[in-house]
Amino acid sequence: MTWLITGGAGYIGAHVARAMTGAGERVLVLDDLSAGVPARLPADVPLVRGSSLDGGLLKRVLAEHAVTGVVHLAARKQVAESVAQPTRYYQENVGGLATLLEAVAEAGIERFLFSSSAAVYGNPDVELITEETPCAPVNPYGETKLAGEWLVRAAGQAHGISTVCLRYFNVAGAAAPELADTGVFNIVPMVFDRLTRDEAPRIFGDDYPTPDGTCVRDYIHVSDLAEAHLAAARRLSEGGQVGDLTVNIGRGEGVSVREMVTVIGEVTGDRRPAVVEPRRPGDAPVSVAVAARAAETLGWSARRGVRDMIESAWRGWLLHHQ
Ligand SMILES: NC(=O)c1ccc[n+]([C@@H]2O[C@H](COP(=O)([O-])OP(=O)(O)OC[C@H]3O[C@@H](n4cnc5c(N)ncnc54)[C@H](O)[C@@H]3O)[C@@H](O)[C@H]2O)c1
Repeated sequence: MTWLITGGAGYIGAHVARAMTGAGERVLVLDDLSAGVPARLPADVPLVRGSSLDGGLLKRVLAEHAVTGVVHLAARKQVAESVAQPTRYYQENVGGLATLLEAVAEAGIERFLFSSSAAVYGNPDVELITEETPCAPVNPYGETKLAGEWLVRAAGQAHGISTVCLRYFNVAGAAAPELADTGVFNIVPMVFDRLTRDEAPRIFGDDYPTPDGTCVRDYIHVSDLAEAHLAAARRLSEGGQVGDLTVNIGRGEGVSVREMVTVIGEVTGDRRPAVVEPRRPGDAPVSVAVAARAAETLGWSARRGVRDMIESAWRGWLLHHQ
């Protein structure tokens, strides 16, 4: 098997590339380097610089490297940007996927793994989210992930491609400092950023109907997430009937924003109290995955906890910000 990982020079993609090569899989990466960093990749992983929107390039790469499976992570991922630039998000996330699937079908590739997101659920009125929970994304980013899933399943059926859609919950941590997320879009880097600026962490709302009044989320270590990709790739390459599989990737455990801020204080040694600000519109009180299907279908479950996520993310933050 040879796997093409699109977006493999990104935060999650580089962890997936490392987990798969570490397990003996042959891997190459396609990345337009709009957000990717080549140095994140293991030295023996070939990198093709190019876009998932370039059908001609994709066809050449799939043929020249005799690719037999694709892990598609390349996408734009910022919610606020997707609200401001919806056409760009549909074009790149859905259009890029359609172009890729066309090339995959033409090359006769039968295995496809798609990077989806808990954003497909929007803000459901249940606390524990199964894969059957109705999808109702609340921003263009989430819409492109849901439309992407539909497209992946339809192309899978039409062209005999076995597909897996992984719906990641809140990703944090790093396998090594140089692989850390350099963006400041999620709670852990956002709190690090405040502390680095000598400012108190912010909590948006402490009057939710949760044990400590702050929002509860399901956090997953990026190394666990990378292992979930490996498990899914192995499931696809075993052959047999996979059909289309859609799987939540979370720990199935809720952690409140206040608990996260407390652990960040312990890890960084900066325990200044958080300031509480008004609720942000659209934040659900609780969003936690039911992770049973991943265990049943992929034989995978998360092993790493929140402290490990924050300690490893902090080492990465220090590397990039000192
Ligand atoms: N980080 C999260 O918390 C999270 C949660 C759920 C889902 N996801 C999904 O996981 C995937 C990876 O996210 P990430 O956090 O590693 O983001 P990232 O921005 O670090 O990685 C994305 C990579 O894709 C590349 N890329 C973007 N558009 C491309 C294109 N058209 N052609 C080729 N390469 C392109 C970028 O250069 C980058 O290296 C995305 O699909 C994202 O939507 C991420």
